[in-house]
Amino acid sequence: MATVIEGLPPGPRMPMPLQTLAMLQRQRPFLERQRRRFGPIFSLKMASLGNMVVLSDPALIKQTFTADARTLHAGDQSPLRRILGRNSLLGIDEGQHLEQRRLLLPPFKGQRMKSYEALIEEIAVAEIDTWQAGVEFPTGPSMQRITLRAILRAVFGATGARLQQLEELLPPWTEQGSALTRFPQLHHDLGPRSPWGRFVRLRARVDAILDSLIEDARRDPELTERSDILALMVQATHGDGSPMTNPEIRDQLVTMLAAGHETTAHTLSWAVERLRRHPEVLARLVEEADEGGRSLRDATIREVQRMRPVIAFAGRHTMVPFEIGGYRLPVGVLIGLSAGLTHYDPALFPHPDRFDPDRFLDVLPDTYSWIPFGGGIRRCIGATFAHIEVDVVLRVLLQRVELLPTSAPDERWRFRGVAWAPAGGGMAAVRRRVAAAPRAFVAAAA
Ligand code: HEM
Repeated sequence: MATVIEGLPPGPRMPMPLQTLAMLQRQRPFLERQRRRFGPIFSLKMASLGNMVVLSDPALIKQTFTADARTLHAGDQSPLRRILGRNSLLGIDEGQHLEQRRLLLPPFKGQRMKSYEALIEEIAVAEIDTWQAGVEFPTGPSMQRITLRAILRAVFGATGARLQQLEELLPPWTEQGSALTRFPQLHHDLGPRSPWGRFVRLRARVDAILDSLIEDARRDPELTERSDILALMVQATHGDGSPMTNPEIRDQLVTMLAAGHETTAHTLSWAVERLRRHPEVLARLVEEADEGGRSLRDATIREVQRMRPVIAFAGRHTMVPFEIGGYRLPVGVLIGLSAGLTHYDPALFPHPDRFDPDRFLDVLPDTYSWIPFGGGIRRCIGATFAHIEVDVVLRVLLQRVELLPTSAPDERWRFRGVAWAPAGGGMAAVRRRVAAAPRAFVAAAA
């Protein structure tokens, strides 16, 4: 019988601040070095996270993603619970998590998601038509506007003045929230000028708008005809038949915004960054879009997410001793399932440094080797929404502008509080292919 070692697997001896710095500034080479030295399971020490056991082998990943919900938690140990609210899907575990996920999953099912395509297209056309030909610019802010508006309209069901107010309030709120995640010692309301005081007052203003959207939906005689996710949440019922409460709906709405806005925007900026450096793929994509196809675009999105996963780790905390990879980890250890390392394993993805969408052409990626959306019972609830959104925005981009190739070096990775973005913002240079939409159409999309 194989022996099991009690405690943590080995890891680098460097002091914690140096390990943290290496993870922030040179994550992939640092992690690759540790994998070469220690294998697919090793320990790191990270400021504010403590001991983290890093996994990058599909069998170990599968074992962790499929472990019992009482053995490994992902929510209640997370600083996001205080930031997003006590009902947030990202901050709860076990029975409470299962119950909320049961309420939220049906709206995110495939067929319904398809119905958002026209809305996303309208939003993307309005934004991409503002792009200036002949100058180089970062696509980041534009992609963020698209993904924010897509969530506010498709998920929150917001339109008109309330859409505009949320578009003003939510970006500073998420920015403050992601900064505060790293400083729990600041989570005290010392008045409206203190960081936490400012944050909770902003949330109160957001909540007032969300309450008015929820109340309108509860009174809407055509509620059952509506396709936005807020309307579906208003109709969802707990196991005992009671409806979701306003605080529950509000916490889940801001959770979806926090989880789905920047992640999708950065993925789009990375797609621009990759495609400008691979003109042969770009040319095939344009041809396919013009002919009404989408297989290569699907594969390209998956390849962008393999090479540039914007969330580096899915995290789980051990609630009881957990046996994995020959070690029995004690209670209270953070396990980090590393998308970056797994996606660059040559045994799983030959020539991992090569941008090669063909590896996913008409082939679905493996559940435990391709993990940009995490996995198991915590797998990203918005994965289909995100894929459809990236697909539609890319199609609109390919059809309306010519993306000009570049010989500039690859953009580096930069951590932007929630997710990893291209350091230059995904720089683009374009020529127009299709005349910009008339102003009336752009205004209607707003
Ligand atoms: C490219 C875009 C996105 C990426 C890369 C991404 C990635 C992730 C990852 C890695 C997780 C953690 C999974 C785990 O722990 O196993 C997650 C969870 C989650 N995501 Fe996404 N996400 C994206 C878009 C979205 C969108 C658009 C939404 C909603 C509209 C969303 C909502 C959520 C929620 C609610 C969770 C928590 C699930 C739970 O704990 O049960 N995400 N996402």
